[in-house]
Amino acid sequence: MGNIIIKNESDLAEMRKACKLASRTLVEAGKLIEPGITTDSINQFVHEYTLRHNAKPAPLGYRGYPKSVCTSVNEVICHGIPSNRVLQEGDIINVDVTSILNGWHGDVSATFYVGEVSDEAKKLVEVTRECLQKSIAIVKPGVRLGDIGALIQQYAESRGYSVVRDFVGHGIGRSFHEAPQVTHFGKAGRGQRLAKGMTFTIEPMINQGDFRTRILDDDWTAITIDGKLSAQFEHTIAVTENGVEVMTAFDEPLLHSEVFP
Ligand code: MF3
Ligand code: CO
Ligand code: CO
Repeated sequence: MGNIIIKNESDLAEMRKACKLASRTLVEAGKLIEPGITTDSINQFVHEYTLRHNAKPAPLGYRGYPKSVCTSVNEVICHGIPSNRVLQEGDIINVDVTSILNGWHGDVSATFYVGEVSDEAKKLVEVTRECLQKSIAIVKPGVRLGDIGALIQQYAESRGYSVVRDFVGHGIGRSFHEAPQVTHFGKAGRGQRLAKGMTFTIEPMINQGDFRTRILDDDWTAITIDGKLSAQFEHTIAVTENGVEVMTAFDEPLLHSEVFP
């Protein structure tokens, strides 16, 4: 995966623009979500909105991925491929947007509610959002990656959920995925120490049941092995002098999801 690439102020200024576009795209995509729409319609919106803003959707053609966004419904953990699947009342859906603007990447995702969803589904989504929020809150120079993973694992497991091991957060910048790998489980006090100028994602995938995954025959769609629900939230962040900048922060609350500052 190579070494961790430290970004300088001018790198961060460029990357911030890509991240803002990604988060605006996700906010707008969220407004479309309701029973009766297809996941393809989300893909079409994300694709066109991205091109209209002089950017490229990073997923399209990435290692052969066929679409411009990932749409992961219910037991799909991540990398769900948009299709003619129609969203049903009670579904939960993660929409994962990655934009490339002027060579820089911004990666952000959220789980949305399709109409009214069960209390069990809501609880899972709330806890998953809290895993991301609480882990971002501890980021600053000197903190270790293991501290982030341990916090997420402890919080999710204390609520009776499990943490997916097979997919992790990642460094990001001119590349979609670069060092370091950011696991959402682990031991406090272990792993890489954070330093100013590091940029990476935190993107916990939290399951109702077993943490293990299965990949469908399309070679992308990752599902829970027990068919139970999975939820995910993701932000791209930068380590600053004294703390953290959420580069993909939303400038308005997400509709049809957890209110997310
Ligand atoms: N956006 C995903 C992530 O958070 C990666 C999707 S890869 C794709 O890392 F090819 F499926 F788009
Ligand atoms: Co990511
Ligand atoms: Co993503």
